[in-house]
Amino acid sequence: MEGRDEDDDVPQLSAHTLAALQEFYAEQEQRESLKSGPEYDQFSVGAVEEDWQLSQFWYDDETALRLAKEALEASGENGRIACVSAPSTYQKLKGLAGDNVSISLLEYDRRFSVYGDDFVFYDYNNPLDLSDRLQPHSYDIVLADPPYLSEECLSKTAETIRYLAKGKILLCTGAVMEDLVKKILGLKMCKFIPRHTRSLANEFRCYSNYETGLDS
Ligand SMILES: C[S@@+](CC[C@H](N)C(=O)[O-])C[C@H]1O[C@@H](n2cnc3c(N)ncnc32)[C@H](O)[C@@H]1O
Repeated sequence: MEGRDEDDDVPQLSAHTLAALQEFYAEQEQRESLKSGPEYDQFSVGAVEEDWQLSQFWYDDETALRLAKEALEASGENGRIACVSAPSTYQKLKGLAGDNVSISLLEYDRRFSVYGDDFVFYDYNNPLDLSDRLQPHSYDIVLADPPYLSEECLSKTAETIRYLAKGKILLCTGAVMEDLVKKILGLKMCKFIPRHTRSLANEFRCYSNYETGLDS
């Protein structure tokens, strides 16, 4: 078209947006470079960054530690622990547990496959479509934190939990889910309040079906 500059069609970023973008990439580069350093611990909480598209909100360190200690205590010697959609607890457990404890992480996010055979791909939409490695009723405790606060997500995750658990269940989800958690899984709310690294709009709670140390 006459008198029209070809560059008119190229979208332009404002100086402010460009600066923010450059800062983001610089921070990302710095985080990536830390991963190859000697101090890097692949089991530290937050080693895999939150992806909000996947409803990922990590516990703060104290919460992950408290849940991991509870799971260890409840599973006993040579215990078997399943973490369902709860990677921070898995990571904390790896730092605490001895070789006699077996820990599985069922997760949708394949970045966690860095944890080798402990990682099992899991999509709550297909709750019983699980690896043959997972035998029914073979875990001393199942700890879960489903991605969404909906009856559908809870019911489907509950199918997986029931399949895996010998008996003990520890669930973290919204306080608003209390009645459904009781109806679907028969769990009761604990006193302990889980916290996250970022403040969330929804209040969170832990629920269990056994006497936990989370009530003291
Ligand atoms: C609310 S977060 C719970 C994380 C927990 N607070 C922690 O710190 O470990 C929900 C988890 O569900 C996982 N998730 C997302 N989509 C999923 C799906 N379709 N099936 C199973 N898990 C899923 C996310 O990757 C995330 O780890």
